[in-house]
Amino acid sequence: MCGIVGAIANRDVLPILLEGLRRLEYRGYDSAGIALVDAGECIARVRSIGKVKSLEEKLQEMPVSGQLGIAHTRWATHGVPSDKNAHPHVCKKSVAVVHNGIIENHQILREEQIKQGHHFTSQTDTEVIVHAVHDFIEQGKDLFDAVRATTELLDGAYALGVISNTEKNRMIVARRGSPLVIGVGEGENYIASDVAALLPVTQTFIILEEGDIAEITKDSIKIFDTEGHHVEREAHLSKLNAELSERGKYRHYMLKEIYEQPEAIHATLEGRISGGRLLEECFGTGASDILDNIDSIKIVACGTSYHAGLIAKYGFGDLSNVPCSVEVASEFRYRKHVVSENTLFLTLSQSGETADTLAALRIAKRLGYKHTFAICNVPESSLVRESDLVLMTQAGPEIGVASTKAFTTQLVALLLLIIAVGRRHGMSEETEKAIVEQLDSLPERIEQVLLLDEPIAELAKQFADKHHALFLGRGPQYPVAKEGALKLKEISYIHAEAYPAGELKHGPLALVDAKMPVVAVAPNDQLLEKLKANLEEVSARGGHLIVFSHIDAGFIEDEHCQVIHVAPTEQAISPIIYSVPLQLLAYHVAIIKGTDIDQPRNLAKSVTVE
Ligand code: M6R
Repeated sequence: MCGIVGAIANRDVLPILLEGLRRLEYRGYDSAGIALVDAGECIARVRSIGKVKSLEEKLQEMPVSGQLGIAHTRWATHGVPSDKNAHPHVCKKSVAVVHNGIIENHQILREEQIKQGHHFTSQTDTEVIVHAVHDFIEQGKDLFDAVRATTELLDGAYALGVISNTEKNRMIVARRGSPLVIGVGEGENYIASDVAALLPVTQTFIILEEGDIAEITKDSIKIFDTEGHHVEREAHLSKLNAELSERGKYRHYMLKEIYEQPEAIHATLEGRISGGRLLEECFGTGASDILDNIDSIKIVACGTSYHAGLIAKYGFGDLSNVPCSVEVASEFRYRKHVVSENTLFLTLSQSGETADTLAALRIAKRLGYKHTFAICNVPESSLVRESDLVLMTQAGPEIGVASTKAFTTQLVALLLLIIAVGRRHGMSEETEKAIVEQLDSLPERIEQVLLLDEPIAELAKQFADKHHALFLGRGPQYPVAKEGALKLKEISYIHAEAYPAGELKHGPLALVDAKMPVVAVAPNDQLLEKLKANLEEVSARGGHLIVFSHIDAGFIEDEHCQVIHVAPTEQAISPIIYSVPLQLLAYHVAIIKGTDIDQPRNLAKSVTVE
């Protein structure tokens, strides 16, 4: 949700800012803008509605340069996407601000500032920040103190980058509730919403903590905590490299990420299984003692990560013999809870910055959940830093808004946790070995599934003129169907709904006609016959079936039923295997529909606002 980048150097920082914006575009792509302090009297600013490319085109006509600058790519919250609402926001041509987050009391501040004579040029919540900083400078504060005083006025979430032409040698940054990292260079320093934005210029990063304010010059970084104390925050070397975030030979990031799944899963398993067993040390020091006392699991997450949680619920119940409940974070946040003492509070998140999931984690701690565990893909994220135990998925950067490899690696990580918990609740060594063996075979088996790309692309043509689709599954394949429906909705804009197949006759069957494809996830498991009976009900009503199944399952193809044959799979890993063809289906339908696959309308990758 909105990307921020900034730099201070002995050279023109415009190329650093533009490259950073390109890399952050997945966070928001309604509009983009740049502000630089140059030799002139005023801040130089260029903004444009649309993607970073539009900004680049505008910059050709209005070239700017400078050794200190900030830039922003926006996902609109307050005010429509427009040039005027694009960041940076500027006051009296002398202070510029970029902001990620939401200022909840902006209306009150705006009214006060209007009374004081400020003229607002945007509908954003952010503009009050720049006017406030400006006013504090007018009252005699320097830029740092003006930003600090401004943050004291703000309710809500923010990551801020602030520059002023009155102080050409420093940039002030602050964070509360939204992520911000500082990139450490040689004779130059940078800021960004995430490390990926800065990988072409540095591998060294400092992660700001909640409430931190920092002053950044070319060769110094001074950080102050909420209390105003000067603090040292450790610098980390990122293992990511700039190429990992490149699209390479693929037409879209989403396709690249679908194809990276064998490798991502392999990396997620590496060092965590050996000799057919789970290496429990992978959960970190103290994990074994914590897991010894766990007798139930509470999973909280959003979107695709929530679907991973729903799938894991079956695994915890069937394989680990412990009860597990799963809830979307935005619901968890606002209801009363009864906490049972030995419940592990488990969050799932690709980004580790999803506002609702993070808030849920903080609430869980306040409620008295004794132990928190995060499965996450971004090591520098707030979720990772704030959880007691962490298991990193090793998916690498996921840039496409539609989550793919992050999802399947979450399922792999969850299976590792299912084994660890299961060991303590009666899972036999034989079962553990069988699951580990299946996990180990996954990369190769997913390579096989990827060979279905062409037939699935052919199948996708049928969806081109459809407005609705139904996805069905039973058991753990029901959340797989939910995830398949979400993928299709998200990138092709076709309305898709998922149901547990047994629910059909309780209502959704009324929707079935020849115009609505019904996609069924039908591995050869103990629920297959039940599912088949449900699908008969669809056929009997003229519905068109598209079935993903194993050849031995016995589905007969005819003009009303098409079957895509998936290789045989054991139950524990079948949700992972069957998710992949559904990703490909959504991708190919979106290709036919000509949508913006990596940056679908109205969405952003990392939902850092509530
Ligand atoms: O980063 P997170 O996993 O916490 O993100 C949660 C959701 O916003 C995310 O999974 C979203 O649903 C995806 N765009 C779906 O493809």
